[in-house]
Amino acid sequence: MSKIGIIGAMELEVETLKSQLTETKITKKAGMEFHEGILNGCPAVVVRCGIGKVNAALCVQILIDLFEVTHVVNTGVAGSLNAELNIGDILISRDALHHDMDVTIFGYQPGEVPQMGRLEFPADARMMELAKASCEKVCSDIHCSFGRVVSGDQFISDGTIKDRLINVYHGDCAEMEGASIAHGAYVNGIPFVIIRAISDKADGSAEMDYPLFEKAAAEHSARLVADMATYI
Ligand code: ADE
Repeated sequence: MSKIGIIGAMELEVETLKSQLTETKITKKAGMEFHEGILNGCPAVVVRCGIGKVNAALCVQILIDLFEVTHVVNTGVAGSLNAELNIGDILISRDALHHDMDVTIFGYQPGEVPQMGRLEFPADARMMELAKASCEKVCSDIHCSFGRVVSGDQFISDGTIKDRLINVYHGDCAEMEGASIAHGAYVNGIPFVIIRAISDKADGSAEMDYPLFEKAAAEHSARLVADMATYI
């Protein structure tokens, strides 16, 4: 039987998903609240992990060890690194990598975690397709595409840094948790996908765009993930 672990970044989004759970039980661990229940017929655990890669890594390992989830979905917002991706669009991860890992001095690629034998963490192909199908079904007016998520413990709001994330890491969007969740799921052999709504252009305009967009983004991704749960 599948059990889906849903890691949200925004309170709004987690609130919506939590309110859709039936038969709920709450467990507190590492400063996070894990809400267990049934989402559209699928056993699920919904949690807000907090900001950044360490919180995200802790959260995914707890979901796997304590709650024995079989699938992991991470949702939230991200800054666009791709001129084709506009505010409000949805990006589904093809893969994810850490843009703040640098051991190039010893011959590793930028972003590569030493001794893992790979640079990027690939998302699960079936979950990617499910996410796309759910998006087309429940958010039909929203542009949705596949791409690379690059993560680091920084909010990107500077054009020079943005250009580096595009040219060196070939990222389509930047955020602060996805690669850690991907990394954690990958080393545990658990399929994952990251779904991010574009909230800003990862440049100087981020401050203005972000608050305006947050609520709509949270609603869209909650709708999408709830629909996905039916088919997991
Ligand atoms: N989340 C949303 N926008 C972001 C940005 N520009 N950088 C990092 N994380 C983000």
